[in-house]
Amino acid sequence: MLAACFLEAETIGSKDMASGEGQDQRSAIVTGGAGFIGSHLVDALLADGYRVEVVDDLSAGDRSRVSPQARLTELDIVDRDALVALVEEIGPHVIYHLAAQASVTASVRDPSRDCAVNVQGTLNVVDVATRLGVPVVFTSTGGALYGDDVPIPTGEEQIPAPLAPYGASKWAAEAYVKTWSLFSGVPHTVCRLGNVYGPRQSPHGEAGVVSIFSHHLYVGSSPKVYGHGEPTRDYVYVGDVVRALIAATGRRGTFNIATGVETDVMSVWRELRDAAGTDVQPELADLRPGELRRSCLDVSLAASELGWRAEVALADGLVETYKALVDEFRSKESQA
Ligand SMILES: NC(=O)c1ccc[n+]([C@@H]2O[C@H](COP(=O)([O-])OP(=O)(O)OC[C@H]3O[C@@H](n4cnc5c(N)ncnc54)[C@H](O)[C@@H]3O)[C@@H](O)[C@H]2O)c1
Repeated sequence: MLAACFLEAETIGSKDMASGEGQDQRSAIVTGGAGFIGSHLVDALLADGYRVEVVDDLSAGDRSRVSPQARLTELDIVDRDALVALVEEIGPHVIYHLAAQASVTASVRDPSRDCAVNVQGTLNVVDVATRLGVPVVFTSTGGALYGDDVPIPTGEEQIPAPLAPYGASKWAAEAYVKTWSLFSGVPHTVCRLGNVYGPRQSPHGEAGVVSIFSHHLYVGSSPKVYGHGEPTRDYVYVGDVVRALIAATGRRGTFNIATGVETDVMSVWRELRDAAGTDVQPELADLRPGELRRSCLDVSLAASELGWRAEVALADGLVETYKALVDEFRSKESQA
């Protein structure tokens, strides 16, 4: 199969993503486009003149997040035949592959499903893309991949040591993306994201601490703050991530996409509490199994190779996000 893929990819050639010259309208598939980050990417691509096809099984996504200007196909990326038929029908210029089983605790509960979606699903995406000569931008994870006890900030050359199946499946998926790029010459990209926050992030998962805290502040209840507020993360605003994914398009390689700034979770809580203007007190709890103590990414490669760096300072991003999330909570309440 590799040889067949290689020949076909060479024959078709990878499409010119930078200019889109000679094309009537550039088209993009966004897997996971009904999710938090994917829906923002869809909006940016539409604004940039792309025709956008969203592929999402709505397991964690929300149809209402998808712009009516994009087409949504409800499809499980593990279903290879259905995926291949759709990608061949669309013939996109690029595939942004964000669909994933993205919950660490779900990955511990059901590692087989985590593997099916994150590894087999990614192989399905990258395989059909490579055969058609279409570059893939794949969203991997910075935090869950590198593990604890690594140099801070952590560079891309650090050998991954994930603490949970989710990190393992993302690492395996990265390997397929890179290998398929190497043998075919199609420029696939891996973006290892920090802790992304922003409007539309669900407060109902286990991750997305900004959204979870915001919801607690909105309803006036105390959130659990694990690790007694000491664990650190590299928080990056969703708008910055979307710019990075677009800047990374057609650029072969692996890039950390974050800020390079290490922030403890208690500081995030305090900033949000100030934005909310309340005096709600958090409930301090021990770190959960599989959770990292520290995470902060070295982002110099993305700066030098992609000309990208995060622009939204955490304090500003948190205030904007809190306001936007409160509007979303209100609007959901009024619809209920
Ligand atoms: N949010 C973060 O902080 C963060 C950090 C690192 C990496 N990432 C990665 O970025 C990507 C997007 O994350 P997000 O925060 O927007 O998550 P999300 O859960 O909001 O979005 C993922 C989307 O994928 C869809 N999906 C799941 N399984 C699917 C399947 N089998 N077939 C089709 N669609 C499926 C879900 O319905 C959802 O809409 C994921 O790949 C995630 O692993 C996110």
